[in-house]
Amino acid sequence: MQRTLSIVKPDGVRKQIIGKVVSMFEEKGIRVAGIKMLSLTKDKAMGFYRVHKDRPFFGSLTTFMSSGPVVVMVLEGEDVINKVRTIMGATDPKKADKGTIRNMFASDIEQNIVHGSDSPESAATEIPYFFSEMEISGS
Ligand code: CMP
Repeated sequence: MQRTLSIVKPDGVRKQIIGKVVSMFEEKGIRVAGIKMLSLTKDKAMGFYRVHKDRPFFGSLTTFMSSGPVVVMVLEGEDVINKVRTIMGATDPKKADKGTIRNMFASDIEQNIVHGSDSPESAATEIPYFFSEMEISGS
């Protein structure tokens, strides 16, 4: 059993599609093991995306991520990291496969509705960035 961190970003919350995003994961057999809504400060967003600190989009990405509430989730299941990435679609919605979350709902490469950890190593740092053990209910 594997875990990953997913975030419904501020654009997803503003578009009122939190439920749709969660459903698309649950319909594929993925279990929600932890979930909460919170508002990131610019500093907390910068800490989360620190691996991208030298990228040209870092400033605008962290401003966007702190522009409104987000929903953070711990998702659980077999091969869940890859499954979530398939359901989300490519980072750039123009390149995302039909029927993926980003293909259906995202407006651009930055405001792309949803985040999912890209590897077990990322999941291992991203999950405790937002969740204590007590907030995660294992299956
Ligand atoms: P995410 O999967 O959360 O991981 C890093 C985020 O950076 C990505 O989704 C996008 O929101 C953003 N991002 C990645 N590439 C670009 C880019 N070229 N321009 C702007 N934002 C980007």
